[in-house]
Amino acid sequence: MAITLAFDVYGTLIDTAGVITLLEQYVGSEASAFACLWRDKQLEYSFRRGLMKAYQPFHICTRDALDYTATFFHKNLKPSEKDKLMGEYQILPPFPDVEEGLSPLKSSGFSLFAFSNGLGEDVRSLLQNAKIAHYFKDIISVDEVKTFKPAPEVYRHLLDRTGTVAHDTWLISSNSFDIIGALSTGLSAAWVKRSADATFDPWDVKASITVSSIKELQERIIIK
Ligand code: 2OP
Repeated sequence: MAITLAFDVYGTLIDTAGVITLLEQYVGSEASAFACLWRDKQLEYSFRRGLMKAYQPFHICTRDALDYTATFFHKNLKPSEKDKLMGEYQILPPFPDVEEGLSPLKSSGFSLFAFSNGLGEDVRSLLQNAKIAHYFKDIISVDEVKTFKPAPEVYRHLLDRTGTVAHDTWLISSNSFDIIGALSTGLSAAWVKRSADATFDPWDVKASITVSSIKELQERIIIK
C-alpha cells in the first residue's frame, strides 16, 4: 500500500511571515513582531474554539486575531487595510524548499494530501497561487468535522478521507502541537524544523523524525 503523507499547510508549506512586507506599510518596524503575535493568537483562538465547541471557520480566527493584534500594538488600522491584510493571507508564498521537496516524493509513489485548519477553498487558492496544488491528491480540511487541530477527531478524519490506516500515514508539519496530536492518534509524524531556534514542546514525546526541509523527507521517511 502507498504511504500517505499529509502536509500541514500554514507554517509548513506556506510561509505566514509573507504578510510582513505589506504589514511594514501599516505598522513600520513592528511588522515582524505584529506578524508573530497575529499568528500566535490565530492558533490560540482555534484551540479555544475547539475546546469550547464553538467552531467557526479558520479565517474567523485569523480575522479576530488581527483585530486583537492591532489593538495590542495600538494600531488604528482602517477596515480596508485589514481587508487587504486578510487578502494577503490568501496569497502567502511557499517556503523555498517546497516545490523541490514535493516533486520527488510524488514521483516515487507517495500519496500526498494537504491537511489544514483552513477552509478547503482557502487552501486550494493558496496552493494554486503557490503553484503547488498539482502535487496533492486532495485537500482535507478540519472544516469537514468542525473542530481544529490537535483534536483527535481531525486526525481520524484524515485517515477516513484518505482511506488509510495510521500505520501507513505520516503527518508532515512544522507545528509541534500538530506533530504531538498526530502521534497521539497513532500516526507517524515528521517535524520540519525550519530554523535553528524552532523549539519542540517539552512534552514526553518525540517526532518520528526531524528534518530541516521538505527536501530531506525523501531519504528520511521510514517505510515500516
Ligand atoms: C494548518 O492547519 C496548523 O495552521 C496550520 O494549516
